[in-house]
Amino acid sequence: MGLTRVPGLLYGGDYNPEQWPEEVWAEDVRLMAEAGVTMVTVAVFAWSRLEPEPGAYDFGWLDRVLGLLHEHGIAADLATATATPPPWLVRRHPEVMPVDAAGTRLEFGSRQGYCPSSPVFREHAVRLATAMATRYGDHPALALWHVGNEYADHTLECFCPESARHFRAWLQARYGTVGGLNAAWGTSCWGQHYTGFDQVEPPRRAPGPVNPAQLLDWRRFCSDALLELFTAERDALRAVTPDVPVTTNFMSILHGLDYWAWAEAEDLVSDDAYPDPADPSSHMAVALSYDLMRSLKRRPWLLMESAPSAVSWREVNAPKPPGVMRLHSLQAVAHGADGVMFFQWRQARYGPEKFHSALVPHGGTATRGWRDTLRLGADLRRLAEVAGGHTSADVALVFGWDSWWGLEAPESMPSDRLRLKDLLLSWYAPLHARGIAVDLAPPGADLSGYRVVIVPNLYLCTAEQAEALAAVTGELVVGPFSGVVDEADQVHDGGAPGPLRDLLGVAVEEFWPLPDGLTQPLRHAGGGAGAARTWAEWLRPDQGTAVLARFEGGDLDGLPAITRKGNATYLGCLPADLTPVLDRVLAGVPAIAVPAGVEAVRRGRHLFLLNHTTDEQRITLPYPGRDLLTDTDLRGDAVLAPRDAVVLRIEGDT
Ligand code: GAL
Repeated sequence: MGLTRVPGLLYGGDYNPEQWPEEVWAEDVRLMAEAGVTMVTVAVFAWSRLEPEPGAYDFGWLDRVLGLLHEHGIAADLATATATPPPWLVRRHPEVMPVDAAGTRLEFGSRQGYCPSSPVFREHAVRLATAMATRYGDHPALALWHVGNEYADHTLECFCPESARHFRAWLQARYGTVGGLNAAWGTSCWGQHYTGFDQVEPPRRAPGPVNPAQLLDWRRFCSDALLELFTAERDALRAVTPDVPVTTNFMSILHGLDYWAWAEAEDLVSDDAYPDPADPSSHMAVALSYDLMRSLKRRPWLLMESAPSAVSWREVNAPKPPGVMRLHSLQAVAHGADGVMFFQWRQARYGPEKFHSALVPHGGTATRGWRDTLRLGADLRRLAEVAGGHTSADVALVFGWDSWWGLEAPESMPSDRLRLKDLLLSWYAPLHARGIAVDLAPPGADLSGYRVVIVPNLYLCTAEQAEALAAVTGELVVGPFSGVVDEADQVHDGGAPGPLRDLLGVAVEEFWPLPDGLTQPLRHAGGGAGAARTWAEWLRPDQGTAVLARFEGGDLDGLPAITRKGNATYLGCLPADLTPVLDRVLAGVPAIAVPAGVEAVRRGRHLFLLNHTTDEQRITLPYPGRDLLTDTDLRGDAVLAPRDAVVLRIEGDT
């Protein structure tokens, strides 16, 4: 069974028929069938058209759309249509609109205009979700429920009185008493001692830096509050259609939402990815987010949205050159996607996204865009057998949102140059270049199956998370500024690395952030020279802890920069080049040698070779097999044209 009851790899996109006269719909479904589209997302922003007046539903048009889709063999990823409340709801209940940190209530006229904590919005959203489920639960086109849309895209937080009440209730549930809250937030600092929960507010704009513990709890709360909203709609759907899977589209590696928690609440993971075609490294960064999506449920996922060519929301919106839409789509499949969908089906004629590319461009079927749409549909059909395939990785990257939120608190850290996404990418990029599959794992997860576990940063580290790292039997690598605080953002007794102290065999005496542009030379035990950038630490290793590299020159001259105890390597700096560390810990981990800019990804019994360069590339195949895209047998060397791909069914592998 695939992600939905639709077999093979899903293909399609957001379909907004409410923006078009009905005459166009017949052409839409005919073209969808021609392109091999198997599923479209319908009604995402259609609330005001489905319920133009309170309680007066107008389902007729959607009935006809779903009927047409079904007649043409196309399934529906049906939205609950709650991503934007209708004007009547906002005018009747102005309090559903979110309020920003400066106290300004936002106006209607865009989308996602709702306060995550508004009981009024929630009640109406649940009512609509129930009405949709009741009306369409038995519809033969229905394959998937799409709740909301890109939660936290525009509205992550709201500072209105209702949100404040909700925040207080959340805090009360977490801490029980105001004394518990005072202790956790360290309110003795700067005279913030509270005597009642009613005195606590969200971190609105304040005269100076806000208590970082308050901010951390606010981030947790904001993720939870939106998740509650999602869950309320999900439960309404499940009550009527328990067998129809429920998803909401994620936004790659998003700071605002803890996707580990969110993924647990949905039936399948779907993601929206918009790598910038003008950025030559974007295929690498997007691969990391795809690996996260695959890791969230350790199952295939769905690329719910990407752009066929240009987007419309960057300052300069570069189109995708010929071949890139196909290549990027195959890349998602390589990293575990069981379907590739786009924003959107037909290019809009009005609104903020009228210049955003689509599967059917303004110019219609005489365009290269449409030819690309047809070509991709045909390719995805050739790859049907890839659906369901799993990836097994030897390497895990550990990362979680609590630590990310804590690490990036403004105005209270030794340096604001430690950015979690950058740290993740600095490890991911060289692994990706070596053709080594990577899973992401949350702090505290069972990591026993991995040969190498890398923790780029674990600023916030609990005793349980430290235990999970201590249980690693393969190589463990821990990046700097880890084990610093507990879950309340309070520095561990004795300082860093706190609960990792024994495991790593090293104490951090002082953090030594490096100003921009300044590097700190270091020398590896084997003699090679290197340099640290951005960050260094004054380390004191225990007896018996080996020193793998020392700082050379400068204020830290002679002090350890990289240490090792047992299987655990600790980095007391950010080395500019991670090669020496990786060479050591990856010894024996199978890698696939490919030229720079070529990606090699194994998924189940298939090997994807993706040439992201504009040159022809010759690759020595690690195994012979059949290229599903050209239906030819390949062995020895494969030659890939610029931006072309090979999807090899490995010979003999079952
Ligand atoms: C996404 C959103 C879509 C569309 C798209 C354009 O963030 O979910 O509705 O706006 O971006 O790139």
